[in-house]
Amino acid sequence: MKAYEVGEFGETGRLRLVDRPVPTPKAGEALVKIRATGLNARDLSIMKRDLPTIVIPPTHIPLSDMAGEVVAVGDGVTGVNAGDRVTMTHYWRWLDGNWHESMREEDYAMSLDGFLVEQAVVPAAALIKLPDSISYEEASTLQSAGLTAWNAVVENGRVKPSDTVVTIGTGGVSVFAMQWAKMKGARAIVTSSSDDKLARMRELGADGGVNYAKNRAWSEGVMELTDGRGADIVVNNVGISELDQCIEASASGGRIMHVGANPVAPDRKAAIPEAPKRMGLIIMRDLTIKGIIVGSRKMFVRLIEEMAAHRIKPIIDRVYDFDQVNEAIEYMAGGEKLGKVVIRVQ
Ligand SMILES: NC(=O)c1ccc[n+]([C@@H]2O[C@H](COP(=O)([O-])OP(=O)(O)OC[C@H]3O[C@@H](n4cnc5c(N)ncnc54)[C@H](OP(=O)(O)O)[C@@H]3O)[C@@H](O)[C@H]2O)c1
Repeated sequence: MKAYEVGEFGETGRLRLVDRPVPTPKAGEALVKIRATGLNARDLSIMKRDLPTIVIPPTHIPLSDMAGEVVAVGDGVTGVNAGDRVTMTHYWRWLDGNWHESMREEDYAMSLDGFLVEQAVVPAAALIKLPDSISYEEASTLQSAGLTAWNAVVENGRVKPSDTVVTIGTGGVSVFAMQWAKMKGARAIVTSSSDDKLARMRELGADGGVNYAKNRAWSEGVMELTDGRGADIVVNNVGISELDQCIEASASGGRIMHVGANPVAPDRKAAIPEAPKRMGLIIMRDLTIKGIIVGSRKMFVRLIEEMAAHRIKPIIDRVYDFDQVNEAIEYMAGGEKLGKVVIRVQ
């Protein structure tokens, strides 16, 4: 079977196509034919080896999102059968309940090989069956970006129809955050460096937009759009560099969902400039700042059920074929996309 390995991506900007033997499922495992896989910001960091704490060997297979079809199961597997259409989360050991940091030890596309491959063996207990109304390509956008946004807005954010949700940027997590907020009847405001992308987001359902490149104090725009009240939920998809603005943009009782681990300043080149200045407002406004780590299998089940019931479709910017993987990565890294980039595997 074919697979892409990271190789010397940092120097060449290209993945290498290799042949690998088809794996055999052992007890408790399932062999899945990968149908589609999606690209995330974290995948680019892994390929470029931008993550200082983890060593990525050249033989590593990237991409943490997948949707596929079960081909065979090992002994003792009862939950899924050959022919089932499935997906799973990349932190597969987080099935339900609270997150524990030790669950990071088995992380697809990070500590384990990922899914840019024609077939993969995975723990059967991790798999979630897909409803027919969600295609493989659509499902391949959900595990990281969709579930993280779901956790931030619905599970931890406890969004309600009277809420205003602000979500930063027009990337994978942000577009889903806008969709989940609208699905729950809330008001959604987005930020972007591009007026064209803001217009597109309004077409997709956003109620308002603020260009953060034109005004670094983008919280002023949020305050104008909310008649000075501020946002109930702010999904910080960038990181510490935006925390001051997230605090400024918050209403009393607001919840700031800390999603982005981007270690760069707004110009995307320099290191983080300084600590946030608005920490006093966290107390004065009685804010909650909540770290968000993707989501559990149980949360993912709830996401898929509600998504199918409400007929929400992921916003897929482009779909590439398996032999166009390097073009897909180049497009993703270029920053032009809005929403998700997907690779159709087979
Ligand atoms: N906590 C978790 O479990 C978790 C899970 C998934 C992702 N993440 C993190 O969340 C972040 C977003 O992931 P993603 O997959 O959505 O990324 P993405 O699809 O690459 O989108 C990033 C978007 O953020 C916007 N942006 C970039 N720099 C910005 C800045 N300085 N200020 C404001 N907006 C900026 C840009 O929007 P415009 O082009 O519109 O300007 C860009 O399109 C990443 O840091 C990722 O590592 C965390």
